[in-house]
Amino acid sequence: MLPEQIAQWNKQFRNSKAEEILAFFINHFKDNVAFSTSLGPEDQVITYMISKIDQSAKIFTLDTGRLFPETYDLIDTTAKKYNINIKVYFPDATDVEKMVQEKGINLFYDNIENRKLCCHIRKIKPLERAIKGLEGWITGLRREQAVTRKNLQTVEWDGNNNLLKINPLISWTEKQVWEYIKNHNIPVNSLHKKGFTSIGCQPCTRAIQPGEDVRAGRWWWENPETKECGLHKK
Ligand code: ADX
Ligand code: SF4
Repeated sequence: MLPEQIAQWNKQFRNSKAEEILAFFINHFKDNVAFSTSLGPEDQVITYMISKIDQSAKIFTLDTGRLFPETYDLIDTTAKKYNINIKVYFPDATDVEKMVQEKGINLFYDNIENRKLCCHIRKIKPLERAIKGLEGWITGLRREQAVTRKNLQTVEWDGNNNLLKINPLISWTEKQVWEYIKNHNIPVNSLHKKGFTSIGCQPCTRAIQPGEDVRAGRWWWENPETKECGLHKK
């Protein structure tokens, strides 16, 4: 994809609604674009929007095997409510067995290398399988979420995976996300009511205290600069 084309799209969509951006790329790439959902609030907004555009559009989630039971419930509720298929990708069983055998079941608390290895096996490799051969990948990233995300654009070239990354909510605020959810009666993870803001794997996510950053409960023992699982590395 030419950088000029990407720049042109970013200009074209500067003031567009997220629904318009989604409709454009779903129609443009058809079967060659997919949305990855972690069932977070942003992802639920996008899932709702996509279900209004095309219920057969590709949507997938990466089941690391360490998710919260509440997240599994939400996968089920959401698919049924919007009459969509959320394809679930699992990690390679042999990879997980070898890692756990060598490093222990809760290896991620020991050091950053172990944490990255676990994310690699449980998320990155399944992601690579899920987006293989696609031209576009839709995500729920927002600039406000983290220091590592503040320069992201609506449309980005993902050089690691060689495809276009489309982030329709990139400039949304947290308040906008929750207002949209309320206005459209969109189901969300029941853990949000218990102080969990950004939700990933159960052992690597905790509730936050009032005033703390929304992602403070993810890998809370690490620095903000390293807190990416690698799905979104530049
Ligand atoms: S993470 O890198 O810290 O895990 P975050 O939870 O903020 O990411 O989610 C950002 C976006 O990455 C989501 O909107 C979604 O598009 C994608 N994503 C993250 N985790 C998953 C997952 N388990 N399955 C599918 N997509 C995911
Ligand atoms: Fe493993 Fe934690 Fe990464 Fe989940 S978030 S894949 S449990 S290190």
